[in-house]
Amino acid sequence: MTPVAIVGASGYTGAELVRLLLGHPEVELAGLYARSTAGQPVASVLPSLAGVVDGILEPAAPEIIAGRARVAFLALPHGEGARLAADLLERGLKVIDLSADFRLRDAAAHTTWYGHDPVPGLRARAVYGLPERHRAEIAKADLVAVPGCYPTATVLAIAPLLPLVGAPLIVDAKSGVSGAGRTPGLSTHFPEIAEGIRPYKVAGTHRHTAEIEQELGGARVTFTPHLVPMTRGILSCVYAPARAERGFRDALVAAYAKEPFVTVLPDGQLPDTTHVRGSNRVHVNVVADARAGTVLAMAAIDNLVKGASGQAVQCMNLVLGLPETTGLGAVAAFP
Ligand SMILES: NC(=O)c1ccc[n+]([C@@H]2O[C@H](COP(=O)([O-])OP(=O)(O)OC[C@H]3O[C@@H](n4cnc5c(N)ncnc54)[C@H](OP(=O)(O)O)[C@@H]3O)[C@@H](O)[C@H]2O)c1
Repeated sequence: MTPVAIVGASGYTGAELVRLLLGHPEVELAGLYARSTAGQPVASVLPSLAGVVDGILEPAAPEIIAGRARVAFLALPHGEGARLAADLLERGLKVIDLSADFRLRDAAAHTTWYGHDPVPGLRARAVYGLPERHRAEIAKADLVAVPGCYPTATVLAIAPLLPLVGAPLIVDAKSGVSGAGRTPGLSTHFPEIAEGIRPYKVAGTHRHTAEIEQELGGARVTFTPHLVPMTRGILSCVYAPARAERGFRDALVAAYAKEPFVTVLPDGQLPDTTHVRGSNRVHVNVVADARAGTVLAMAAIDNLVKGASGQAVQCMNLVLGLPETTGLGAVAAFP
């Protein structure tokens, strides 16, 4: 059993890591760490763990984490975990980071989008943790930058189709409110979100734009994220002009034929977040609109699983040389 630590265990992706890793046959939880909730019983902060996990949340001290664990998941806000990552790597741990600190390969791009490079030089060591595109590099990595939720859904929907479509790429994506994390705020307050839908950070201002463009080889995207009144799920719809008459679905089928978590739905069946909720699965499909000369590629994921913690466990499995699907076999909690 490999001992693993979760830093940021009191947040939404941290809680999801706890849930997934409790069902993982090859790892054991060796410390749950937090900040403002440190010192509190785990089950009082995460009531879903009552009767399952004893103990308290602890402050994240690198020497303590390194004394107990071989792998550390960092489920922290951007900029909060980068120095800890550097310290833990120095102490020989494998680090799986769920924040955006190391996702952009180019330091200047990171500075443009996030303000500053938290640990200059370290990003060269990081591998972008999208196994469907970087499997071999992830298996050799000791620092994995787990992709954002929107980029995961968007890249998996459109990347195999790039040779068949032109510009512009228009990404229209919807997210459940857990994507904003556990800290309460007016924009995620129930009366302000429960019965409406709204775009936010439009016209190239959402930070995930840079990540999507990086993984699409620099193709420019117009990315419009929306907040919708559901707890979990991302649906990404990508529109592009067709450069071919057919072959779109075949391209997806060829790209994902051997992928354990990605399913190209049958012709005419469209992705739905309800059908992947709670699972690490990705449902994709593509439809050509011959009348308009466009292609519509779609993907549905659970933002907290394939969009964050499930993908992080998938990466950990690769890093540890385990079968990639270990501990991730659950299908969606449907309905
Ligand atoms: N939510 C998603 O769907 C999603 C998807 C993909 C990626 N991500 C990324 O994953 C990361 C975590 O997101 P989240 O939604 O889980 O956030 P969250 O619910 O707000 O949780 C943040 C966690 O970080 C802890 N924390 C904050 N500063 C800390 C510090 N200095 N030292 C130790 N712990 C600290 C908090 O502890 P206390 O509660 O004790 O203060 C809490 O456990 C973010 O970078 C986010 O962008 C999130």
